[in-house]
Amino acid sequence: MERLNQAGFTAPVLFGKLADLGELRVGRFDAICYKALNFNLLLWDEGTPMTVKTLAIASDHGGVELKSAISDALKKRGIDVLDLGTDGTASVDYPDFAQAVAKTIIDGKAEAGILVCGSGIGMSMAANRYPEIRAALVHDRLSTELCRQHNNANVLCLGARLIGEATAMDCVDAFLSTEFEGGRHEGRVAKMSCSV
Ligand code: RB5
Repeated sequence: MERLNQAGFTAPVLFGKLADLGELRVGRFDAICYKALNFNLLLWDEGTPMTVKTLAIASDHGGVELKSAISDALKKRGIDVLDLGTDGTASVDYPDFAQAVAKTIIDGKAEAGILVCGSGIGMSMAANRYPEIRAALVHDRLSTELCRQHNNANVLCLGARLIGEATAMDCVDAFLSTEFEGGRHEGRVAKMSCSV
């Protein structure tokens, strides 16, 4: 069913008008936000269940073991896993790996990502530098469900030194099996992709 936005346009009509004006920012999953007109015009796809066929995963040295265990579990689940490193325990810089996962998602080569470092903090901060990425640092199943239901997270961040493997696996399962609720959350999520 077509949704009318606040200006009363259907999605394709508004998209055409904005494209004509040539000032579009397009978020891959859900957001097309037009900011030049100060109309608060937000347009989004109808519903965004996250069907993950291919997932990009990476860690720094602090998360390499957990990454490996998650990667194996994902493959058993039938998901194509793009493991972007790191591969050993030598010290590396987490922003490089967050960027690799972000780029893979932005390029359309994966639908979602998982990032692991010691705390999960550095990875989540680095991944959220990219407007198309909504990275959520989670510590349990409930926070993971909420990051999907309310925030449409497309990257899951885990702290290998803070949570055990069983909890991490529970988070991964919740991340893959929980849908974005849409509704009142859609406009809020779209606003996160707008620049100032
Ligand atoms: C590495 O020692 C550690 O700082 C890193 O894994 C992460 O916790 C950073 O946020």
